[in-house]
Amino acid sequence: MADSLLLMVWTLILGFALPANDAGGLLEEAAGPTEQHYANLGVPEVVFSCPLPEGPPAVKWKVNGTSPGLSTLARGDGSLALHNTSLDQEGEYTCHETATGRVLRRVHLKLGYPPEKPSVQCRSASYPSVNCAWSLGTEPHLDTSFFSTYRHGIEGEVSECVQPFSGANSCSIANMEMFSVSPYILNVTAVNPLGTTTSLFIIFLDQILKPDPPEDLKVSPIPGERKKLHLEWKPPSSWLLLEYFPLKYSVRYWRFGSRSSKTTRATEETSLVLTGIRPGGTYHIQVAAMDFLDNGEWSVWSSPATGTPWMPE
Ligand SMILES: *[C@@H]1O[C@H](CO)[C@@H](O)[C@H](O)[C@H]1NC(C)=O
Ligand SMILES: *[C@@H]1O[C@H](CO)[C@@H](O)[C@H](O)[C@H]1NC(C)=O
Ligand SMILES: *[C@@H]1O[C@H](CO)[C@@H](O)[C@H](O)[C@H]1NC(C)=O
Repeated sequence: MADSLLLMVWTLILGFALPANDAGGLLEEAAGPTEQHYANLGVPEVVFSCPLPEGPPAVKWKVNGTSPGLSTLARGDGSLALHNTSLDQEGEYTCHETATGRVLRRVHLKLGYPPEKPSVQCRSASYPSVNCAWSLGTEPHLDTSFFSTYRHGIEGEVSECVQPFSGANSCSIANMEMFSVSPYILNVTAVNPLGTTTSLFIIFLDQILKPDPPEDLKVSPIPGERKKLHLEWKPPSSWLLLEYFPLKYSVRYWRFGSRSSKTTRATEETSLVLTGIRPGGTYHIQVAAMDFLDNGEWSVWSSPATGTPWMPE
């Protein structure tokens, strides 16, 4: 403890007292702030200049504290050229006065790509809210943030499409105007140190509607009926305005051991009697939901439930 304190004091004294042309690590630490530099991966050449000291222009470059590799070229004017940039060339580049080791410039290099246009997908699991998410085709290797806004109609005011946290790759609009003829236009802008790219995505609520699957599917035998099964389910709980926007349902079923499935005609009811069941057979059953007015898509199938028809004792 006492020793390290002493060392600290010494370091401070030396740091102030040593003349500027003395070699050594202490002075490297005392050099100016690190500059952050970003460059595109794969560019043929990145050049760092070095502020030449007075006197004979003798400087040398280091990367991460050691001599740079073959993909770099130290030039007569003191600059350093990096060729065919690749990720392993990232690091801290320092230009030193050869005679003293003094650091003349310190650059931290990070390589990557400007963001590509985000590819956007939107889905509504219920009127009137929409969730959108996006991704980039190529990994940019650099921190990339996203900003999302929307307009209702070309002339509409710009509002925020709310992201779960700042910069996230998804957003939601809680209260879209239903049955509006003017489209919603989503603007997703990706930003990183090498560039900014915007995707515009037109949202038609009636096209992106896709309910969640129905829930709580129950299959039961009907007493006295050897060839029938009774089914019952609940609408997806995420579907908010059932009174105004009814759903229709379709049932898919197949007998255990059989390869083919059958699908029933769509119904608005949340129960159904399956007929034509093979006595003693075990059946797997799934149900899917869709907006009653045929807007958007069918939900995925619910997870299967299993049942067997009634059997006489
Ligand atoms: C850089 O890549 C190009 C094309 O791939 C090649 O012709 C050239 O020799 C490379 N240069 C260096 C310094 O590696
Ligand atoms: C410098 O160090 C970093 C981090 O350890 C490493 O990823 C990078 O490849 C190194 N750069 C060079 C040119 O050796
Ligand atoms: C999209 O949003 C960005 C930033 O949020 C903005 O700079 C840009 O002008 C917008 N583009 C359009 C076409 O609205």
